[in-house]
Amino acid sequence: MINNDNTNPIGFFDSGVGGLSVLARFRKVLPSENVIYFGDTVHLPYGNKSKEELIGYAKNIIKFFKEKDVKAVVIACNTSSAQAYDTIKQIYSFPIYPIIQSCSGVIATSNVQRVGVFATESTVKSGKYTEELTKHNSNIRVKEMASKNWVGIVEGVGENIEDARKNIKYEIEEMLEFKPEKIVLGCTHYPYLMNEFVKYAPKELFIDPAEIFVDFIKQDLSRKSLLNNKSFIGKEEFFVTSSPEDFVNNAKIFYDVKNLPNIYE
Ligand code: DGL
Repeated sequence: MINNDNTNPIGFFDSGVGGLSVLARFRKVLPSENVIYFGDTVHLPYGNKSKEELIGYAKNIIKFFKEKDVKAVVIACNTSSAQAYDTIKQIYSFPIYPIIQSCSGVIATSNVQRVGVFATESTVKSGKYTEELTKHNSNIRVKEMASKNWVGIVEGVGENIEDARKNIKYEIEEMLEFKPEKIVLGCTHYPYLMNEFVKYAPKELFIDPAEIFVDFIKQDLSRKSLLNNKSFIGKEEFFVTSSPEDFVNNAKIFYDVKNLPNIYE
């Protein structure tokens, strides 16, 4: 039973450490909020899963969050936002924030005409970025490209990780042929690879949507009078569906996970 207390936590989820790029920003902007982060690492990568599978994972995770009495859920995963959000948004009474749909308005109206998007295969297949960006600006041209195993590089899973790292150069070059004014990192894992991207294109070209996303969430929570205005530092809890040690290690660039995450089975 939700007790409508503003100190109730906010649930964040992603397939792994990617969503921590959003959580890190969130903790800076709204440090007094209590948060629960769920990394569904046993199903990683989400990027090659079917729509039905992604809906099933999202339903289970949000059910878990409901049992934890969350006041809102943040889908800190582009793939789940693209494939599962439309189906699950009707089911729950608390706000659910999907990254693509929450950020596209700001990106599309920021005086750009040509936007590149790197995302997972599943996100690109959904065409969600193109749909959402053109909804807000019908003149915008969008090129979506599915990047090959970039998530695997970050999480240390899958085969041919070194080849995938070498291929980044060619994937960026292919995108640059489109002459994008901005390139959206349309997967929350990709900001972890910024040190690689800047070898082939200027940093200013890339948009990590986390900043826009967190501003959107803050404004909406405020409009709904859901912000926790207490002045203490919020608590954080972590849950994963496979090795907590791997999660903490992979998280390092973005987040200092102080206590080993709990395993959710
Ligand atoms: N980080 C997620 C995203 O934003 C999913 C990556 C994956 O597991 O393939 O799309």
